[in-house]
Amino acid sequence: MNQNKHHIADVAIIGSGAAGLSLALSLANYCNVTVISKGALTEGSTLYAQGGIAAVFDKKHDSIESHVQDTLDAGGGLCDKEAVHYTASNAHDCLQWLINQGVPFDIELDSHGKERFHLTREGGHSHRRILHAADATGKAVQTTLISQVQAHKNITLLEHYNAIDLITDKSGNKASSHINGMYVWNKNAKKVETIAAKFVALATGGASKVYLYTSNPDVSSGDGIAMAWRAGCRVANMEFNQFHPTSLYHPELQNFLITEAMRGEGAYLRRPDGSRFMHEFDEREELAPRDIVARAIDFEMKRLGANCVFLDISHKDKDFIIEHFPTIYAKCLSVGLDITKDPIPVVPAAHYTCGGVMTDFNGKTDLDNLYAVGEVAYTGLHGANRMASNSLLECIVFAHAAAKDILSKIEHAPEPINLPHWDESRVANSDEEIVITHNWHELRLFMWDYVGIVRSTKRLERALHRVELLQQEIHDYYANFRVSNNLLELRNLVQVAELIIRSALERKESRGLHYTIDYPEQNANPTPTILTPQR
Ligand code: FAD
Ligand code: SIN
Repeated sequence: MNQNKHHIADVAIIGSGAAGLSLALSLANYCNVTVISKGALTEGSTLYAQGGIAAVFDKKHDSIESHVQDTLDAGGGLCDKEAVHYTASNAHDCLQWLINQGVPFDIELDSHGKERFHLTREGGHSHRRILHAADATGKAVQTTLISQVQAHKNITLLEHYNAIDLITDKSGNKASSHINGMYVWNKNAKKVETIAAKFVALATGGASKVYLYTSNPDVSSGDGIAMAWRAGCRVANMEFNQFHPTSLYHPELQNFLITEAMRGEGAYLRRPDGSRFMHEFDEREELAPRDIVARAIDFEMKRLGANCVFLDISHKDKDFIIEHFPTIYAKCLSVGLDITKDPIPVVPAAHYTCGGVMTDFNGKTDLDNLYAVGEVAYTGLHGANRMASNSLLECIVFAHAAAKDILSKIEHAPEPINLPHWDESRVANSDEEIVITHNWHELRLFMWDYVGIVRSTKRLERALHRVELLQQEIHDYYANFRVSNNLLELRNLVQVAELIIRSALERKESRGLHYTIDYPEQNANPTPTILTPQR
């Protein structure tokens, strides 16, 4: 059996979400690009994005400075101001690029009967500045970009290929390590293959799957963060996991998000007795940034012993609700919940990884020819709490920047070399898959219980101890058995969990999404938490 099919590309991109596909399309007129996705090409957080993408289109009432200020405020004093300014300034052009690709953002008529984009609002935004395609913006973006990459002759798409690890130069000097390509698990053929490339870009999305309850799809297992860490890259701000305040609480429909745009359009949060409570926590009420709203809900649920709180938009006109939230309306109706009449039961769920692989403004990591774009990356934009609808924006802005940087270097980049073969000579087929299943569940449960919305040093230490035990077990398993999808993901999730816990233990304050009862105050001079792998 040939274990070593070899693919060669100028640029190999791991991930087919908004980040990966935008990067591919920005490169493909000038070089050969291979995009790999570990599931179906469509599958990733991008597909499920609801609310929209932030950019200043209403120049009369809104401004880039205001977008910058809102992002800084939501970020709890920890955003990199330059990164915020860079992103907000490029937002309009990037949205225009998406529009040119064919993304059908909603339009409305102004008072003169002229068409303009309908702008919605979400938490933390002081103006309406979010372009959207009803409540299924991600689907519109993902399907449009897919049709473009499929039509491009210079783009090769490898679907159901799971990247295992980057192959670094064995020069011995990790500080100047060069990436030669990667090992990938071809799921259909059930074998490991290699991809050699002049440049590699990680666009693997976030790691919210490390928590028991999440709005994310299964692919969000932090693979890119773990791979980059193993290859020698620094990571930053891994303690800041965003919990979205309003995920549907229903036994038949899990992981389904109720967009923040619903609060933007006037929905109220209510306790089980029907009373509103957000005014007791923040003067912006339901439109406070996410960290505040999620913590308020968590507080009320624990105080009342309630399983959920309720999001209520039933006071709005029925047609308005159905027009603006058709996906949510239909989905809820499918389980007998009519959102035009009934309040929606909601709970917080892990939603977004604010930290990630450190990059510069070109998306370049610590390694010369390795880039990281999208949710996998830490650019400094989100600080201690990402503002709604800034994520898809970051994907596009930094994909364009990375493409420009790669193209400026590609002519002089060394040709890909022959890669070492994957060695399977000492492994057997797994005979104990239950070990993997059990560890998956254990990890996600203690991360939820000990490293969730409210933390303490004792809980974090407990979690670290358990992660270390799991790491040992998984390491032994990985060394002795053939790889499988679940094993690869678990290995990465456990690595990412360790990075989250260690970062959380390092932060001796409460800020944004990181709240610990042992250090409830904020420090005067906040800095990002940067972890450096041992070389
Ligand atoms: P993803 O879209 O997650 O794509 C990751 C890709 O990497 C996938 O193709 C996956 O298969 C691939 N991959 C991962 N690991 C491997 C591997 N080992 N080998 C091969 N391939 C791999 N943000 C907004 O700005 N606005 C919104 O309205 C919004 N709504 C959201 C709603 C939901 C329900 C969710 C979950 C998120 C939402 N977000 C929103 C966040 C935003 O959608 C994501 O941050 C963004 O889509 C991430 O894009 P990405 O390209 O970085 O990763
Ligand atoms: C939502 O629609 O509430 C999600 C928006 C986001 O995560 O940016």
